Amino acid sequence: MTGTTPAARVTELSTGWLRDHMHEALAIYGAAMGYASSVVAGRYGYAIQHSERAGFRAVGAFVPTREGEVLVGFGYGYLITPGQWWHDQVRAALDRRTAKRWLPGAFEVCELHVHPDSQSRGLGRQLLHALLAGLPYPTALLSTPDADTKAFRLYHADGFVDLARNHHFPGDSRPFAILGARLPLPSPAPRADRP
Ligand SMILES: CC(C)(COP(=O)(O)OP(=O)(O)OC[C@H]1O[C@@H](n2cnc3c(N)ncnc32)[C@H](O)[C@@H]1OP(=O)(O)O)[C@@H](O)C(=O)NCCC(=O)NCCS
Repeated sequence: MTGTTPAARVTELSTGWLRDHMHEALAIYGAAMGYASSVVAGRYGYAIQHSERAGFRAVGAFVPTREGEVLVGFGYGYLITPGQWWHDQVRAALDRRTAKRWLPGAFEVCELHVHPDSQSRGLGRQLLHALLAGLPYPTALLSTPDADTKAFRLYHADGFVDLARNHHFPGDSRPFAILGARLPLPSPAPRADRP
């Protein structure tokens, strides 16, 4: 892996900016996840709805081009509450004690994606930490495909622990892991210190 791209800029995004650039962000989501354009198009309405939720926060990574800056990565999340689909799925997937310890007041990392051309340069980690920095919530939760992916490695390396493995969400044949971290996240160790 190379070092962090020096010219890249990671910053908090206003909700309005992300809503105005949601198609751009979702193109990154599609490229990063390898999803068909129909899947990406179907995500737009959900993403706009997510941006209206309590506690919504978004971050973006930009790199300079001749024409100006371009978005190459983004992440967003919000407070989860009973009645939301993901909250209720996760509550059902966890035993009562674990759910009680992790769900109340939790922030869901709903999306975190870096365009494949800009991956493995430290931007994903910067986005994750920027998204969760200074949040007044006890925990952050997320679900991610249960496989040895860059995402899984990043989350495990940076403070997330397994709450459930091999979980199947309705309508998706892939197994997922449900992960949680206590906030604040520990600061990431310098890259050179990691094996
Ligand atoms: C997951 C993702 C956001 C990470 O962003 P990134 O910029 O590629 O990651 P970083 O360069 O910040 O690296 C963070 C960690 O990810 C893992 N990682 C990154 N690139 C990797 C590679 N080529 N091989 C193995 N692990 C890798 C490592 O654990 C790395 O930590 P390290 O540098 O200490 O080894 C990005 O790879 C991505 O968008 N993936 C596809 C979409 C996705 O899965 N999103 C998450 C959905 S839940």
